[in-house]
Amino acid sequence: MCGIVGYAGHQEAAPILLDGLSKLEYRGYDSAGICVQGPWGLEVMKTKGRLQALRELTREGAKLPGVVGIGHTRWATHGAPSDRNSHPHLSDDGAIAVVHNGIIENYLELKERLIARGCRFQSDTDTEVVSNLIAHYYAKTRDFLEAVRQAVRRLEGSFALGILCRENPGTVIAVKKDSPLIFGFGQGENFIASDVPAILKYTRKVAYLDDGDMAVFTAHAVTFYNALGDPIKKKPETITWELSAAERGGFPHFMLKEIFEQPKALRDTLHPRLQEGQVCLDEISLPEDYLRGIRRIYIAACGSAYYVGCLGKYILEKTCRIPTEAVLASEFRYASPVLGKDTLVIIVSQSGETADTLAALREARRQGAGTLAIVNVVGSAIAKAADQVIYTWAGPEIAVATTKAYSTQLSVLYLLALHMARALGTMEEEALSQATAALEALPDQVADTLTPERIAQVQHYASALFDNHDVFFIGRNVDSATCLEGSLKLKEIAYVHSEAYAAGELKHGPISLIERGTLVVAVATVAELFDKTMSNIKEVKARGADVLCLTTQDLAAEAEKTADFVITVPRIHPLFQPSLNVIPLQAFSYYTALARGCDVDKPRNLAKSVTVE
Ligand code: M6R
Repeated sequence: MCGIVGYAGHQEAAPILLDGLSKLEYRGYDSAGICVQGPWGLEVMKTKGRLQALRELTREGAKLPGVVGIGHTRWATHGAPSDRNSHPHLSDDGAIAVVHNGIIENYLELKERLIARGCRFQSDTDTEVVSNLIAHYYAKTRDFLEAVRQAVRRLEGSFALGILCRENPGTVIAVKKDSPLIFGFGQGENFIASDVPAILKYTRKVAYLDDGDMAVFTAHAVTFYNALGDPIKKKPETITWELSAAERGGFPHFMLKEIFEQPKALRDTLHPRLQEGQVCLDEISLPEDYLRGIRRIYIAACGSAYYVGCLGKYILEKTCRIPTEAVLASEFRYASPVLGKDTLVIIVSQSGETADTLAALREARRQGAGTLAIVNVVGSAIAKAADQVIYTWAGPEIAVATTKAYSTQLSVLYLLALHMARALGTMEEEALSQATAALEALPDQVADTLTPERIAQVQHYASALFDNHDVFFIGRNVDSATCLEGSLKLKEIAYVHSEAYAAGELKHGPISLIERGTLVVAVATVAELFDKTMSNIKEVKARGADVLCLTTQDLAAEAEKTADFVITVPRIHPLFQPSLNVIPLQAFSYYTALARGCDVDKPRNLAKSVTVE
């Protein structure tokens, strides 16, 4: 949930750390800080608020001279966002400085013991026990590496740590367990970071640390150790994508840029896997025998990724005829799921580090189920822990509200569905060929949906309807699953209370909340159910609601007879229609948030990756 960076080199560290943190702000943005090993020892500057406040405080880093340092941008877990709870945290004796991403679960017990030994604490954080624990062992051993090792052995929970020691100038130690951390190899300089964009300006050669790994580095050298403490070699991997992929590139917000990147993200995800009219998923192995033995599929995920799973249920059941259930990862392992060899658990995650989703994956593996992860971040914890992985090639997604990752996750479920249907023979050859051809055309159809006219129309409606306090999204069948995503988008970035209901369910309770001026967004693209949704629109209109209807172009004239406002999308193959339907809803949330003066890319209380349960 937080972002960390570290640097040892020949350049001034502070500006490099600030620059790196600016690329990690999506991970948390309630406070920030840096520590530089300068002429007078470990110098810390930190402050509540956005990174800009730290830039001003440090005068763009000029106030902290030195060529070695660590930095942090925070999403508060233990202790409110405040100056004193901001990282880096110095040990009581000032010998050790630490930045931390993750949670130390046994921090209270450790804190009590340290207090009993006379140690004083300045913050409410779990992280301060780490700096004090390392300082405790350092006082005993006078050996920086040994002190870190002994301290880490006592930590429970998740952590990516960057550590400096006053008496070992020039050296940074980094440790990883269950929180992401990469090492960057430079020329006469080395780096650590929570994510690639933070260091991509300086190096393309990176190594992904595994759980338990430690990196001890200076400007000129690095030694990696595994969880057992043995030295290991890490082969540098070359990052091939450009930093511009993680920059706004002329768009006012990352979210808008990412909405418009969807055709490319879909092309990159789909086209290499569609060859000669067939789905080709070389990266996984789901042999026919194995598939025939599968009795149930679970799709476990959180937030929008879970809503992809809700659509996945319709898609997989229709094409493969295997009972499929979307489950909230945060509930999954506490619900005593019945799993085994005949269960396939599909895990969906953009970041690949969502704590609840990782826990669901581990539970599935523990019970012997097959696990297949759909992940966007290469080398992430979920990608490493699953039996098989299919990557979405959405590129870096920076806006907290997901758009292109959601779309690519859905596209991978389409691929998987067609791949499995072919193996199982659950679709006629002709239907399969038609669907495969339609899937190949999907990126272009998404591009056709993102026309300036349509987006301007959505913006116009958003500017007219932005002031509603309560919004209901209603739809039937796959449209009801799309409503879940449309509603979440509006909540998270525009701070509008909104609910998503299967349209037929409204009269069983929630219709009592409809009154004059309530906005109802009705998604009505499933042709067979269109009339029924129109009836539901009439019911809410009779009670005073304003209705914005999203439908396909062929049904627009009918929808206009009933709804107040109509937005259309092209009609395409029904299996893939949800991929077009979500686009106006993403844009509607974006423009509603803008009209309400919200910080679109960094909504309050949220962070991009949620590594706490
Ligand atoms: O990284 P993940 O896909 O595992 O994240 C899951 C959710 O936290 C995420 O989809 C969240 O709901 C988004 N902010 C929604 O826009």
